[in-house]
Amino acid sequence: MSKDIVQIFDTTLRDGEQVPGCKLDKGQKLVIAQRLDELGVDIIEAGFPISSPGDFESVNEIAKIVKYATVCGLTRAVKKDIEVAAEALKPARVPRIHTGIGTSDSHIKYKFNSNRDAIIERAVSAVSYAKSFVEDVEFYAEDAGRTDNEFLARICEAVVKAGATVLNIPDTTGYCLPDEYGAKMKYLKENVTGIHKAVLSCHCHNDLGLATANSIAGVINGARQIECTINGLGERAGNTALEEVVMILRQHPTLGLDTNINSKLLYDTSQMVSHKMGMMVQPNKAIVGANAFAHSSGIHQDGVIKNRETYEIIDPLDVGVNESKIVLTARSGRAALAYRAKKVGYELTKIQLDTVYQEFLKYADRKKEVMDGDIHEIIETSNINIESVS
Ligand code: KIV
Ligand code: ZN
Repeated sequence: MSKDIVQIFDTTLRDGEQVPGCKLDKGQKLVIAQRLDELGVDIIEAGFPISSPGDFESVNEIAKIVKYATVCGLTRAVKKDIEVAAEALKPARVPRIHTGIGTSDSHIKYKFNSNRDAIIERAVSAVSYAKSFVEDVEFYAEDAGRTDNEFLARICEAVVKAGATVLNIPDTTGYCLPDEYGAKMKYLKENVTGIHKAVLSCHCHNDLGLATANSIAGVINGARQIECTINGLGERAGNTALEEVVMILRQHPTLGLDTNINSKLLYDTSQMVSHKMGMMVQPNKAIVGANAFAHSSGIHQDGVIKNRETYEIIDPLDVGVNESKIVLTARSGRAALAYRAKKVGYELTKIQLDTVYQEFLKYADRKKEVMDGDIHEIIETSNINIESVS
């Protein structure tokens, strides 16, 4: 079955870099941008050019080196922002300006002290102005998650008429439930005249831990772009994690959706971004965490040793992890001990294994994890006649 491609819009260098302590220098940004390009992301949001001379320069340099992806710069619905972004993006093979404004009643009242009609006017003039510099203009309706659907449809229709090629529907505060966010996309698909001329985009924050689920609900209901970051970095609790949405679509072929991402580079890219940003990846992080393919309980280990698929839905090689890990702890069983002992050079008979296992349990009760070096010590002090495999 041929699949619909969901465009991956990576905002690690913009929303991700807004995280306190994650600031990158220009050289680091260039290396990450190059890697994102190799990874196969469709759009790289390189920064917010008006925000500082350093960000302008980074966006400008990234625009020069990216070979395949569209390079995008963020702006507010402000003329000067748009002019500066257009200038920074000039060297890009395919440039995109990402402009927009808050659309929820709370943003309209408290941020802009304005009203809905005036906000539509500002949105339309920002998109028209951006369109005078580049063909590809994405409009974001900030806080769309809490924006009333009828008004959201009105503003979307107006900006599509003005030439917007992509409609970003951010759940800026991470408020929506998946059904609600999916229904929002469906509503826009069904109620915005001219919607066929634009791509609907999901941009979800993770304040309630729902960013990935909401993005998937979005594409199931017609969106064809997901905005995400490596390791889910981003404002507050972060953005949708790129590695998660990519693997969800790949592991669920019945959805009929896929991305252009080379998943074999996911683990390495995650490590690279983690090191450059000084932001450690939590061990239980889906797809790229240190424990994502580690098995520690005896029951699971026995299953995985017999057949990996008993407890793994992803082949670690598919995301660039060399192999599943059998971790030895006091909860491990004989199968795991025999497996790891063989890996370090000991072929144990059933009787030998019984003896060594008793020693192992005493040792494991004292230690959190039993390492390869410990296995040698346990076997050598177990007083058995050992046959070593080479
Ligand atoms: O979360 C958000 O609304 C944003 C916009 C600026 C796109 O990051
Ligand atoms: Zn955001």
